[in-house]
Amino acid sequence: MGRKLLLDKAHIEGIRYYKTYRENGGYAAAEKVFKTMKPDEVTEEVKKSGLRGRGGAGFPTGLKWSFLAKPEGVPRYLVCNADESEPGTFKDRYLMEFLPHLLIEGLLISSYALGANTTYIYIRGEYAWIPDILEEAIRDAKAAGWLGKNIQGSGFDLEIYVQRGAGAYICGEETALLESLEGKRGTPRIKPPFPAVKGLYQCPTVVNNVETLATVVPIINIGGEEYAKYGTGKSTGTKLISACGNINKPGVYEIEMNISVEEFIYSEEYCGGIPNGKRLKACIPGGSSVPIVPANLLLTTAKGEKRMMTYESLSDGGFQTGTMMGSGGFIVLDEDQCVVRHTLTLARFYHHESCGQCSPCREGTGWMEKVLKNIENGKGKMSDIDLLWDIQRRIEGNTICPLGDAAAWPVAAAIRHFRDEFEWHVNNPSEALTRNFGLAHYADPLPVPAPAAV
Ligand SMILES: Cc1cc2nc3c(=O)[nH]c(=O)nc-3n(C[C@H](O)[C@H](O)[C@H](O)COP(=O)(O)O)c2cc1C
Repeated sequence: MGRKLLLDKAHIEGIRYYKTYRENGGYAAAEKVFKTMKPDEVTEEVKKSGLRGRGGAGFPTGLKWSFLAKPEGVPRYLVCNADESEPGTFKDRYLMEFLPHLLIEGLLISSYALGANTTYIYIRGEYAWIPDILEEAIRDAKAAGWLGKNIQGSGFDLEIYVQRGAGAYICGEETALLESLEGKRGTPRIKPPFPAVKGLYQCPTVVNNVETLATVVPIINIGGEEYAKYGTGKSTGTKLISACGNINKPGVYEIEMNISVEEFIYSEEYCGGIPNGKRLKACIPGGSSVPIVPANLLLTTAKGEKRMMTYESLSDGGFQTGTMMGSGGFIVLDEDQCVVRHTLTLARFYHHESCGQCSPCREGTGWMEKVLKNIENGKGKMSDIDLLWDIQRRIEGNTICPLGDAAAWPVAAAIRHFRDEFEWHVNNPSEALTRNFGLAHYADPLPVPAPAAV
């Protein structure tokens, strides 16, 4: 059994509630911090741990914290990014729903380290039932003296507020999130200035993912150096992976970052293999924004090494032959799946979610959806494949925020690795709609009936 640091107590009945969490070692890390550590020492431990942000980019958390500006008399904020809207990613939901006090304890320790007296949890609107769970946990933590004024006699004050989003994927991008938190339309800001200098209400702000902040608890409990002994290389510790698609056991798994992709997919401890003995065709291992990789390059890198579930190994070979860890949304496709149809589904998502601020993304995502729809529906031309390639190339790197890249990469990777499948759709227009790929093909919404004549 793989070692666990975040979900080790998830099986305990009632762990969602303060009493049970506390009886099972909860808030011991916070106690240790308030009794024995100065704020900078907490940041030092996080640096030693090698923790990388779990929201997608994998930026070193301790380093990010050390960038926080500390001008005299200006408040600082910590914002917990719980927007989790990336298709395939649902690990933060699990943490918030079943281990809310782990997150509250992580926020408490992190806020202390950063000198933030007000902390926000920005949660996606579709997680409609979770704010109640978080607010109950905040109330109970406050009643037990872990929030409010002069916490545990330390002189440190903290309030945590939960803010619901309204269902926009772009509000997961940290500066769009801050705009939304300020009550404005959620469009990304031009950087610099970075949030560490001018963030929420133009004050220094750290934005971190739910899992990142929850992980601060085991880091303090066992110490940064000990934490760094888990995992391998620059992928220290454990990582939550939400696994879905054609696997026998979809769910949220905590892995130590030293297992192979093959073990993750086929072992009984994790995904349990592919249903009905089907063959693996491809995988999107880090949420919908990362490049799809075909099975041969997924299990073994282009260098012929076993592909591991680590930041380094998943991205080995760059986008030519590799992909990314991203947010850990692991989507498996079996031999029956149509890559063109999947790519269309993703393109439709990004077109819908583009905030419209930058024209390459606003216009390009719409064109990609349109061209893909034609190819998928047997109305495509061979030149459309090159057109599609050209459109994604013009979006990548040409937008204020990385949503443009996130929309371009899946299309680029699908063409790079599965061009023959696109060509097959063009060459077999009458069969394109009927070919059995296992699931129903993408269908247009039913036409709206014309209004009756009066
Ligand atoms: C379009 C878009 C959506 C994003 N959605 C999320 C999200 O839902 N949750 C998240 O933690 N980070 C998301 N990010 C990344 C954040 O901008 C930011 O990098 C992250 O919250 C930093 O936290 P971390 O360092 O702990 O990973 C998104 C980025 C983009 C461009």
